[in-house]
Amino acid sequence: MRSKLRLAAIALGLTFAATGAFAQAPEIAKRQADMKAIGGAVGQIAPVIRNERPWDGAAVAQQVQIVVSSLTDAKAQFPAGSTADNSRALPAIWERKAEFDGALDRALGVATNLAQLASANNEAGFRAAFPQLGQACGACHTPFRRP
Ligand code: HEC
Repeated sequence: MRSKLRLAAIALGLTFAATGAFAQAPEIAKRQADMKAIGGAVGQIAPVIRNERPWDGAAVAQQVQIVVSSLTDAKAQFPAGSTADNSRALPAIWERKAEFDGALDRALGVATNLAQLASANNEAGFRAAFPQLGQACGACHTPFRRP
């Protein structure tokens, strides 16, 4: 009984997805919120890198941790076919899912390393490694996000 209901729900969901006229997947709002949080955190770190704000390892670590946790959450927010007019996610994500997942994992690896450097108060190491983060964002946005 339950599984029949589930099947019916899935069938309905497919119909809705096909017409594209109904409420969008909740994952879209979630991943956009994740990305906004990531953008906000990077925006807090950038002035430190530009020497407009003094280095504070603990504060920087806290911001990088937001990047780590939001990227981790975003991993689950790209179910197949979750596109919508207000989403900039490109179909290439699901056509080349392994490549997309690889780009996400690489960004996560860079952010995790940065979190460790900031926690260890390794300012020079953090500054040297920070450009890798922007590159990791771009390496996903360029092929997988609408401009
Ligand atoms: C693995 C892929 C991937 C990585 C890595 C990635 N992003 Fe994104 N990002 C996306 C996709 C896809 C979207 C569009 C999501 C949508 O609209 O459904 C997006 C959207 C965004 C947005 C717009 C959010 C909104 O809706 O207002 C910002 C800001 C953003 N990303 C910042 C970043 C930053 C900064 C980094 C690196 C620290 C990053 N992203 C890393 C895939 C990625």
